[in-house]
Amino acid sequence: MNTFFPLKKAIGIFDSGVGGLSVLREIRNTIPHAPIIFFGDQYHVPYGPRSLNEVLSFSRIITHFLINLGAEMIVVACNAASAAALIELRKEFPDIPFIGMEPAVKPAAEKTITGTVGVLATPATFQGKLYASVIERFANGVKIVQDTCPGLVQQIEKADFESEATVNILKKALEPMINAGIDKVVLGCTHYPFVIPAIQQIVGPKVQVIDPAPAIARQTAKIYQQIQQKPAIDHKLKTPTFIITSGDTSILAEKIAYFIPFSVKLIEAEWDKNNSYLNLTHSNQT
Ligand code: DGL
Repeated sequence: MNTFFPLKKAIGIFDSGVGGLSVLREIRNTIPHAPIIFFGDQYHVPYGPRSLNEVLSFSRIITHFLINLGAEMIVVACNAASAAALIELRKEFPDIPFIGMEPAVKPAAEKTITGTVGVLATPATFQGKLYASVIERFANGVKIVQDTCPGLVQQIEKADFESEATVNILKKALEPMINAGIDKVVLGCTHYPFVIPAIQQIVGPKVQVIDPAPAIARQTAKIYQQIQQKPAIDHKLKTPTFIITSGDTSILAEKIAYFIPFSVKLIEAEWDKNNSYLNLTHSNQT
């Protein structure tokens, strides 16, 4: 059904939905010529309220799927999936380099002057061992104020970045943080960078909003260099960006320009009934 795949030495990126596009756009800026296959699991979004086991199971199948399409490294552009699956994926796919996300508490704790840092992330991320270990290693006596922003991922999936409903979710999360005296707010969910303007408006210019995507893109570029040094480079397509969704391509096609400023090939994939397999269905180009 699809003549594009498998690619060679592509970067695979995945998220529960469109959030990972905040990481993809940084990677694309940093490595303009890399073939990229992005998978957004819009059929199952949001991941945040799901169990870590369920998110691990999705992540495993998505990783297989991306490798079959030609990914030779994987960016888990999702804090929830990184919390649930990163350790297991590294064990199960020892030949594949993985880059994962963790809330950027380290730089925030190093630079805070007020000694209080806000972290916005989803429940799965806060529950994972990865977050506990980040706090243990890096918080260093800094006070951390957390919030899960219920409903925010769904607003961002609709490309609703500034309606009253979206701003109200953000205010509910951020006002207690402002009252607690934060001077940094860490975005521990890859959906949230799309609402940075609304966040900044609420917290004011003195609070720094920390998006880890540029650091992830630099790390991706380093690993990409390493996989390019292996033999057998044979790109038929120069710089394709494939976005595959388990949701509806026509809905995503209408909204994609809100998330990334360049053209992509949009493709649909389908889960089987038992969520044990992913299949490409049809494609269209934007
Ligand atoms: N974008 C994801 C993250 O970074 C997951 C959001 C969700 O699906 O709940 O955690």
